[in-house]
Amino acid sequence: MTFAFEDLVRKGTGVLAASGIANPRRDANLLLRLAADLSPEQALTGPRAIDQNAAQTFERYVTRRGRGEPVSRIRGRREFWSLDFEITPATLDPRADSEVLVAAVIQVLAGRGLTAPRILDLGTGSGCLLISLLAEFPQAVGVGVDVSPTAAAIALRNAATNGVDRRADFVVSNWHAAIGAQFDVVISNPPYIPTSAIQSLDPDVRVFDPHLALDGGRDGLSCYRAIAGTLPNLLSEGGFTAVEIGMGQADAVAAIFGGAGLTETKIWPDLAGIPRCLTVEKG
Ligand SMILES: C[S@@+](CC[C@H](N)C(=O)[O-])C[C@H]1O[C@@H](n2cnc3c(N)ncnc32)[C@H](O)[C@@H]1O
Repeated sequence: MTFAFEDLVRKGTGVLAASGIANPRRDANLLLRLAADLSPEQALTGPRAIDQNAAQTFERYVTRRGRGEPVSRIRGRREFWSLDFEITPATLDPRADSEVLVAAVIQVLAGRGLTAPRILDLGTGSGCLLISLLAEFPQAVGVGVDVSPTAAAIALRNAATNGVDRRADFVVSNWHAAIGAQFDVVISNPPYIPTSAIQSLDPDVRVFDPHLALDGGRDGLSCYRAIAGTLPNLLSEGGFTAVEIGMGQADAVAAIFGGAGLTETKIWPDLAGIPRCLTVEKG
């Protein structure tokens, strides 16, 4: 038994619309392509008959999406910095806003003429930040740290998928605790949501991103405090740090790093103009 592509999309669109999903037809299309393993071209021009297995898979995907699960979570993959990353329930779903940090690091390194930096990524998750930088700098090497062993294992797989695993190590550690070396660049996108604000986040974040990747303590700043004091020892001479920051946190985070002897060099806005990344260096 087979089903017409268009009939399934129409049915899925109806279910998603009734569940209040914002772009129901787009998502139904994506999910059917995923269920039937069709490329975008095949979905537009190829055979439109979908077999029963794929139709049943599609139905399950539509049910999950209808409950608010993002399409990227259902796919188990996310594109970041034009690279492909596996994501699981143990990893944050990488955000496009975090590409600001990658762009900032590239710009600072270019300004300093550094082409083979040693990079440390604290709270690596899927590894998206470190792996993107290693892909940009073919002579760079890096270490990604996460307290979640599952996240560290996924990051290693992502490094292999993107061809940089021979230049990357992934370590399970409470921040810098297991790190004994120095680095030219330390990057981090730590959890920065105040604990009390987590309940009011959209369900696609609150329910599907790991709590460990979100919770920044009472005021959202506890992870910056945890890493600031150690940065002067982790950074080599002339080294710098780039951290992602939440909305409205720039001054407070700069003050935390300032208290650890680091000087702010620049605040980098995201595409919406919101300060999203802070770079600091040994003063
Ligand atoms: C906001 S996520 C960022 C993930 C990834 N770097 C990205 O930008 O998509 C923060 C990460 O920090 C990790 N983390 C939380 N507490 C940690 C700790 N004490 N030591 C190391 N990593 C930690 C979480 O498991 C999570 O992967």
